[in-house]
Amino acid sequence: SNISLKDAATTFSVGTITRASWVKAGGKHTEILKKEFNNITSEYEMKMNVMYPSQGNYDFSAADAMVDFAQANGMNVHGHALIWHNATPSWVENFAGTNAEFEAMVKDYITTTLTRFKGKVRSWDVVNEAFEDGSGHPLRNSVFRQKMGDDYIKKCFQFARDADPDVLLFYNDYNMASSTTKRAAMFKMVDELGDLIDGVGAQMHISYEGPSKSNIEAVADGTVSRGLKLHFAELDIRANPNKDITTLTDDRAQEQRAKYKEVVQIYNSIPLANKFALTIWGVRDNESWLIDFWGNADWPLLFDSNYNKKAAYFGFLEGLQ
Ligand code: G3I
Repeated sequence: SNISLKDAATTFSVGTITRASWVKAGGKHTEILKKEFNNITSEYEMKMNVMYPSQGNYDFSAADAMVDFAQANGMNVHGHALIWHNATPSWVENFAGTNAEFEAMVKDYITTTLTRFKGKVRSWDVVNEAFEDGSGHPLRNSVFRQKMGDDYIKKCFQFARDADPDVLLFYNDYNMASSTTKRAAMFKMVDELGDLIDGVGAQMHISYEGPSKSNIEAVADGTVSRGLKLHFAELDIRANPNKDITTLTDDRAQEQRAKYKEVVQIYNSIPLANKFALTIWGVRDNESWLIDFWGNADWPLLFDSNYNKKAAYFGFLEGLQ
């Protein structure tokens, strides 16, 4: 069949990531974006270190390019991510003012950004990856927590809600499926946000071997039971987590296909009211962040380096039947 991902997924958006240079260049990348996807997330250029490079000096040029492309092509934009310890500009890390001045700066940044993109960006990750890894999953000791207190997350959601009551506000994190303790810590925090939060973003950087179907379902169940929208926000499925293959063998490609099918089936079976988007963290295998991150060959996405559909692409479609 030649049906596209977005046309097959009739009850939720199918997203991927892009960059300003890629949407400007056009070509095969934007051809695939237009054909297969109806939601885009900026892989990098809507993070604080890019949008707010120095105090009082915003640079929305890259964000504007992506938002303009989305508007021109009837796509939604998911804003990623207002507050993230890994994308904090150095001037914020080394902020010289008082805690009150820091908080006022954060409020101004969130207000300025949401106001600019009101009506063009449907949703934002207000805070990304606030919890430590490891055992107890306390809040990371980011500069935001240090200067604004443990309730910095609630404060940032309040700033966002006040700036634009219509935009959907998400909390986003990883290992939600693979760590029951991290999942519990995240949902406890979500409960404390009350009606300030609209949705949960589970990144879903997983592998063909896991997490298990039941653990992925636990993330969906926890979100649905709270009446929140679920975003599978950064789905990619490592085919080579054990570094045991040097090319994507047919067997492994079929196992990856089965895992994509399983994840899509789980997402597609949540109630309509909780549906939002399923975002794949990349178009072509060779562009995936995780190859550099893990330092070995892998083929985690739906298209190969020549933009050809892989078995995984058809696994996605099978998950929708
Ligand atoms: O574009 C600049 C270039 O101008 C500059 O010369 C160069 C050298 O600094 O950097 C280039 O930007 C890079 C950017 O990716 C775009 O390629 C940054 O260095 C690099 O740090 C950035 O990495 C991104 C990373 O988040 C950090 O922002 C990855 O592409 C992106 O896939 C990754 O995505 C994260 C999610 O946001 C949160 N969840 C985890 C996920 C994987 O780490």
